[in-house]
Amino acid sequence: AERSVQVKLVLLGEAAVGKSSVVLRFVSDEFQANKEPTIGAAFLTQKCRLEDRVLRYEIWDTAGQERFHSLAPMYYRNAQAAVVVYDVTKATSLEKAKTWVKELQRQANPNIVIALVGNKVDLVQPSQPSSDSVAVDAEDEADDATATPGENAGSTSGEAESLRQVPREEAEAYAQEAGLLFFETSAKTGEGIVEVFTEIAKKIPID
Ligand code: GTP
Ligand code: MG
Repeated sequence: AERSVQVKLVLLGEAAVGKSSVVLRFVSDEFQANKEPTIGAAFLTQKCRLEDRVLRYEIWDTAGQERFHSLAPMYYRNAQAAVVVYDVTKATSLEKAKTWVKELQRQANPNIVIALVGNKVDLVQPSQPSSDSVAVDAEDEADDATATPGENAGSTSGEAESLRQVPREEAEAYAQEAGLLFFETSAKTGEGIVEVFTEIAKKIPID
């Protein structure tokens, strides 16, 4: 018979970074363009198959709006894993993620496995093949450079690239320093989503 362990996992992060969308992609392989904000928290489960065992994730998807912050300890208490999400197009969301990591490191289970996840990378990848992607032409780029000279200065990588506010290297360096797993994902395209949950699973001790 196969071994199957329950793993309690909590998602934390600023409002609208895509926590519920990451979970929806992992659990149902779906995406909703206009997902409604979570109220309180949502509970979902999903199995994760490794070579030698199967885990059953019990997922608490918390609400990012500030008025719900005080509820968070109920959801991360006893959690074996946490996914702290930020939005690669919003620098302040990484700062919020760092405050969640500090709170977890102070208050949660000392053995908790924490993953830092930069979501919405589809918005900063102009070459990402996508049926509903919008073509970028050189004229639009020129207009943009005039509109926001500071942000586009020195950029040669196209219009979509200018949306990135968090360099991968910066977040990755922070994650390494803080002892976190690190991923960039897109709930929209599915990029990186399964990896988050699989790599966490590998870090969960067997009994
Ligand atoms: P709260 O529940 O309020 O904390 O928000 P949340 O973090 O759960 O965000 P949610 O999943 O509701 O997503 C917010 C918005 O971002 C929705 O309109 C999503 O469709 C969109 N979104 C989420 N993930 C992605 C992504 O990877 N790419 C793009 N382009 N949009 C995304
Ligand atoms: Mg949500």
